[in-house]
Amino acid sequence: MGEGKGYGKTILFGEHFVVYGLEGIPAALGQITTAKVRRIMSNGYKLIDNRPATEGYKQTKIGEYTALINRVLEYMQVKDGLEITLAGDLKAASGAGASAACAAALAYAINDEYKMNWTNEQINKTAFEGETAGSGTPSGIDNTVAVYGGLILFKKNLTGGENKMDLLKIKKPIEIVIGNSGLTALTKEVVGDVKKLKDANPAEMQKIFDEYIMLEEKAKKALKSYDLKKLGQLMNKNHELLQKITVSCKELDAICETARTAGAYGAKMTGTGRGGLTIILTPGKELQEKVAKAIQAKGYETIKTVIG
Ligand code: MEV
Repeated sequence: MGEGKGYGKTILFGEHFVVYGLEGIPAALGQITTAKVRRIMSNGYKLIDNRPATEGYKQTKIGEYTALINRVLEYMQVKDGLEITLAGDLKAASGAGASAACAAALAYAINDEYKMNWTNEQINKTAFEGETAGSGTPSGIDNTVAVYGGLILFKKNLTGGENKMDLLKIKKPIEIVIGNSGLTALTKEVVGDVKKLKDANPAEMQKIFDEYIMLEEKAKKALKSYDLKKLGQLMNKNHELLQKITVSCKELDAICETARTAGAYGAKMTGTGRGGLTIILTPGKELQEKVAKAIQAKGYETIKTVIG
């Protein structure tokens, strides 16, 4: 039996913009997906998916996961039949990097089962291959966090070379709340819509990209100097840019509004959007608890965790 794990992620800054080579700031969540693989006497694979998940997630994403697993098996040249068991405490939801965590966990488990001695870099490439099943043109941000964990500065290399990935050290971990809209979106579709919007309105999109570049620069400084009030304001601004590129939705907007009213330093959607998750900055356990309660009172699930 081979075993592996992959981290869930949240994106503090940069979803969608990273697809176009702009720098993003993702962070691993404390929650992980685990995979176990066992060789079986049959062709193909048998999947046992014991991961907790948002209602409807597994059904909506079944096509994506089939393609993801097949790509990973093909990339790692697995010829045997495999029983694959997925589990862990990462709740599979749009925006949590669940497919990348699964791809990374599976790649590590196969590596373990066949004693392949692949490096993290090779595992990351494999998880990226798996991700192309769901995202079409993934930036590589999700699989990078799923493999390496931590708080990261990420930049896709648009010319096909190595992506930039630097660990970002901060003074101490920051409490956050993840608010779940309960809706599931398909990354490939949403990323495709952003591309259409960009092709149709290049000048307007460039303005939004330029605004994003400036605010991400400020966000890096705010993180390094641990200016969390500033960081929160920049997250709010990033959310507005995501609204402009049409990837938010009324549920995500409502969660962010509720969080801000309850005293959160900042709130934005995180990941693909049009459903999925929000990331809310709530330094200190007391504020974290208060904001989580306010969101729950509106009928949305929350996770209390830390980044950094
Ligand atoms: C999804 O978690 C992040 C997106 O930017 C897609 C990608 O970067 O591959 C929406």
